[in-house]
Amino acid sequence: MKRIGMGIVGAGFVGPHHIDAVRRLGFVDVVGIAGSNDASAAAKARALGVPKSYGGYEALLDDPDIQVVHNATPNYLHYPVNAAAIAKGKHVVSDKPLAMTAAEAKKLLDQATAKGIVHAVTFNYRGNPLVQQARHAIAKGEIGKPHFLVGYYLQDWLIKDTDYSWRLEPDKGGASSALGDIGSHWCDLAQHISGLRITDVLGDITTVIPKRKRPTGSREAFAAAGANEAYESVDVKVEDLASVLVRFDNGAKGSFSVGQVCAGHKNDLVLEICGPLGSIRWRQEHQNELWLGRRDKANEILQKDPGLIDEAVRGYAHLPGGHQEAWADAFANLMRDIYQFIADGKKPSDAHPPAFATFEDGYRANCIVEAILDSAKKGSVWTRVNY
Ligand SMILES: NC(=O)c1ccc[n+]([C@@H]2O[C@H](COP(=O)([O-])OP(=O)(O)OC[C@H]3O[C@@H](n4cnc5c(N)ncnc54)[C@H](O)[C@@H]3O)[C@@H](O)[C@H]2O)c1
Repeated sequence: MKRIGMGIVGAGFVGPHHIDAVRRLGFVDVVGIAGSNDASAAAKARALGVPKSYGGYEALLDDPDIQVVHNATPNYLHYPVNAAAIAKGKHVVSDKPLAMTAAEAKKLLDQATAKGIVHAVTFNYRGNPLVQQARHAIAKGEIGKPHFLVGYYLQDWLIKDTDYSWRLEPDKGGASSALGDIGSHWCDLAQHISGLRITDVLGDITTVIPKRKRPTGSREAFAAAGANEAYESVDVKVEDLASVLVRFDNGAKGSFSVGQVCAGHKNDLVLEICGPLGSIRWRQEHQNELWLGRRDKANEILQKDPGLIDEAVRGYAHLPGGHQEAWADAFANLMRDIYQFIADGKKPSDAHPPAFATFEDGYRANCIVEAILDSAKKGSVWTRVNY
């Protein structure tokens, strides 16, 4: 198989997971890392065993050994880096949210389509074997036509006023914090598993901690404040908690909440889909189990076991039952779907394998988040998502 060269811009928290995931595929060479300066990029490249480093993304984009560019920078750099990579004719794997605004995301989708490059967004929960199992079961009609989708995505890493991230600064993270960062994942997953589209939303958004202590030095993503860290007090303009009512294109109703201030919830994404014949629930923190709710017989828990899940989704499970698969394995499944598509020489307009979300999916998520913010701003009224 022809080898594919990969380069990544931004190697903070999630970037190294992109690198790990593509290395597991066996036919991808991690060629280089671009960072915000020469020294930090070189240090990251050394630590991760990557041959080349660049002090800025432009130099990485000029490297002829790189065919696929991953963008794992803070949100405000998604548009410029993605747009520049597309202009150079590179395939692009962008982390989510695709862009700061739906308008920017649409431009990226249009530019990528015009250039004919393969484009992907890391809605990585799609890569979990039991997520694919749930999707397959619903497509086969096992719960009937879904009429209710409910869930939440809660975390606690911003619960103290000393917790801080660029995600809280609108010029770096966008107009939304919790909804853009984790609500975008919930919305993509709900639509992906159910096969439905979100059409209308009603949002109620809150900033539980309106004043925070921003460290004056640098701090790793998701890290707690150090004992003697210096800080300055800042006003927070973005939400850390939100509840949303949702309508879907088949008439189904639903609701979800997101929060980054909910103690004990580490990365707690829960999605339940109810239909007339049954319900299905998947919970990220217990991702090797799928709950199947029944009216006329006992409920079941299906364990992740290649021998027990449908043949059509077996390729997403790599270990026997009882051997837990997790976040990083699902991330690698996503990369497998994307890179196999590239290796097969497919065109972006060809049918995509299921775990592979495109810029179109990224654009849709941006549209939904904007509609929720718009709804909340208007006093929590029903708002149509303007795709
Ligand atoms: N898919 C997921 O589940 C998931 C998980 C975490 C983060 N993310 C997304 O990934 C992105 C990065 O998040 P993170 O948590 O890794 O953030 P982070 O702050 O830990 O890392 C960002 C990296 O980008 C680098 N950077 C900043 N400016 C740069 C520039 N001009 N050129 C090159 N590099 C630059 C920083 O030095 C840092 O290493 C965000 O958009 C976030 O939403 C996605």
